[in-house]
Amino acid sequence: MCGGSLMNVPVDEGLLISMLLKTMNAKKTIEIGVFTGYSLLVTALALPADGKIIAIDPNKEAYQTGLQFIQKAGVEHKINFIESDALPILNDLIANGKQEGAFDFAFVDADKEGYINFHELLLKLVKIGGIIAYDNTLWFGSVADPEEEKMEEFLRIGKKYFDELNSFLATDPRIESSLISIGDGLTLCRRIC
Ligand SMILES: C[S@@+](CC[C@H](N)C(=O)[O-])C[C@H]1O[C@@H](n2cnc3c(N)ncnc32)[C@H](O)[C@@H]1O
Repeated sequence: MCGGSLMNVPVDEGLLISMLLKTMNAKKTIEIGVFTGYSLLVTALALPADGKIIAIDPNKEAYQTGLQFIQKAGVEHKINFIESDALPILNDLIANGKQEGAFDFAFVDADKEGYINFHELLLKLVKIGGIIAYDNTLWFGSVADPEEEKMEEFLRIGKKYFDELNSFLATDPRIESSLISIGDGLTLCRRIC
């Protein structure tokens, strides 16, 4: 679970996110959970030259490890990296007033217990018709496994968060959602009101 290759989204998921961003003509996005910046690089490459990404992660060291690839790709100017927990930053963006409904897309791939709180704030920041994408919503398939008592602890804990999140999203009238079985599960939520 802590291995670098397991932290980054897999390539097929990156390609899907890239195509989605281009199809939407996304220009302004938020990324919560950057790590070494693979999904961030995919996003930055998919946005137009004047696109902007607010990328938030308390781990700046990991971001700096991958920064050379972002620089090589010539897309660093699109990224505003903020070294922080995402919650206070999202609250600041909302308090600022001008950012409500200003974003086309948000990608969330961070601490799993935080997703529900991020959802409420992101619904204010992403415009109607925009998309909020949550990674890992299949949680290694555990969300479809009833035999909880046989699971390792990390699976059981994550399953609890994702069972709650998935049920919540499925009945949230402010969005339409689709859980795509790519990578570890990617839920797309389109804001409808
Ligand atoms: C799975 S990695 C992200 C991988 C990245 N999205 C990719 O695919 O290349 C999760 C990252 O979320 C960050 N993180 C955890 N809690 C967070 C929070 N509350 N706000 C922002 N980032 C957080 C961690 O520091 C870690 O770097």
